[in-house]
Amino acid sequence: MKAEKQIILGALDCFAPGFLAQGMWAHPADRTADFNSLSYWTDYARLLERGLFDLLFLADTVGVYDVFGGSRDAALRLGVQVPINDPFVLIAALAGATSNLGLAATGNLLYEPPYLFARRLSTLDHLTGGRTGWNIVTGILASGAKAFGRDLMGHDERYDFGDEFMEIVYRLWEHSWEDDAVIQDRTRQIFTQPDKVHEVAFHGRHLQMSGIHLTAPSPQRTPILFQAGASGRGKQFAARHAECMFVNGTSRASLARAVADMHRALAEQGRTPDQVRILAGLTVIVGETQAQAREKQEAFKAAASAEATLVHASGGLGVDLSRYPYDGEIEYSETDANRTLMENLTRQPDGSRVTIRQVAEKMSLSSRNLLIVGDADQVAQEMIAIVAETGIDGFNLARVLMPDSLEDFVRLVVPRLQERGAYKTGYRPGTLREKLGLGDGARIAANHYGRLLGQEAAIAG
Ligand SMILES: Cc1cc2nc3c(=O)[nH]c(=O)nc-3n(C[C@H](O)[C@H](O)[C@H](O)COP(=O)(O)O)c2cc1C
Repeated sequence: MKAEKQIILGALDCFAPGFLAQGMWAHPADRTADFNSLSYWTDYARLLERGLFDLLFLADTVGVYDVFGGSRDAALRLGVQVPINDPFVLIAALAGATSNLGLAATGNLLYEPPYLFARRLSTLDHLTGGRTGWNIVTGILASGAKAFGRDLMGHDERYDFGDEFMEIVYRLWEHSWEDDAVIQDRTRQIFTQPDKVHEVAFHGRHLQMSGIHLTAPSPQRTPILFQAGASGRGKQFAARHAECMFVNGTSRASLARAVADMHRALAEQGRTPDQVRILAGLTVIVGETQAQAREKQEAFKAAASAEATLVHASGGLGVDLSRYPYDGEIEYSETDANRTLMENLTRQPDGSRVTIRQVAEKMSLSSRNLLIVGDADQVAQEMIAIVAETGIDGFNLARVLMPDSLEDFVRLVVPRLQERGAYKTGYRPGTLREKLGLGDGARIAANHYGRLLGQEAAIAG
């Protein structure tokens, strides 16, 4: 099959002992346990650049997965996203070790003031030469809120809070400094022209501030914005803000539905599908032959931790799965955690119910991602077919074994994709936004909400 468009590829991971393939850090051939060392990540990032990956995408969790068994012990014992380090610090460390790779990290907007957050992201965008991305999340863990002395805000209210936060950071990034504010005129000793820097003032229900942005405009100004909300309110939020969206789905039909939903939500915000890139989570197990790939899959399944998978799923659902019998079915309940995961596990299109055992077994390697197992040609063909049939633009690839899964992918699958015209053979110049063909040059699109804010009499001073 010849490809119609070039696939965008991200590598999905976490600054912790593993992310989605639960418990694989304990596999004798796995390197993840070295995640605190810089060389682990520079090797990782260089491998991704060898494979021409568009970006490294770092998930993050504020709080501990302590829903399973009503305790944090299992998460600590099994290394389920704890210990976890700050992914934005990692971006700074990788800026100098890479030259083309996009570096995107997840930042929970509930727990830090937008003023400092905006400065940190602008700083990273300067240091990476415009390769920084931010995955906007509002969090699902009550333990995170408790650590800040609060209760977890309600599901939809978190997104309302998020809209206020976004308005502040857009005003700082897009509207505080004019393009020609900094002149660095040595003769006249003028670094910045004061009349070209404007105060931002915001008085919302949750947040208030006034001040100028502390950082001069970075190459992208607003970093590339990622979002993965999938509930009704989550989609609305994503459609207003995101330039790259994640969708989860374990079948082509569910992905195609998610893409169509997202396109509808975009239209309501006056945006068009070509202004976003939609990526689906994907796990690939590739072998020299199909039989070898299947053997690997069985070996990985035996090594993965069912208990850790349930710890992760319990946190995601906000429901303690240890309280159900292992062959018991999960029942729908409304929680303030991940609504979409709950819907997916309890409301199957065919009316069937999912048991705890099925969650433990099916999600242990690939969580809610698509899973492709096969030789390189099969994997490449399947990826191309999924893109053609669902309307997604690419994948966020979650590895199983580190680094073998990614090395195999780069060595075996990337050339097969390239032969079929489905993958680039070199990086485009420019910022991450330009490499992804998004936006208005390096800047966020002119009709994006964050740019349009500047058209009101919003900026005082
Ligand atoms: C690929 C992908 C990556 C995600 N990464 C994170 C993450 O790193 N941290 C986080 O708190 N939530 C993460 N989420 C969860 C979403 O941001 C969101 O909270 C979740 O989809 C529930 O939103 P909803 O209730 O609007 O459906 C991720 C979701 C997806 C699909």
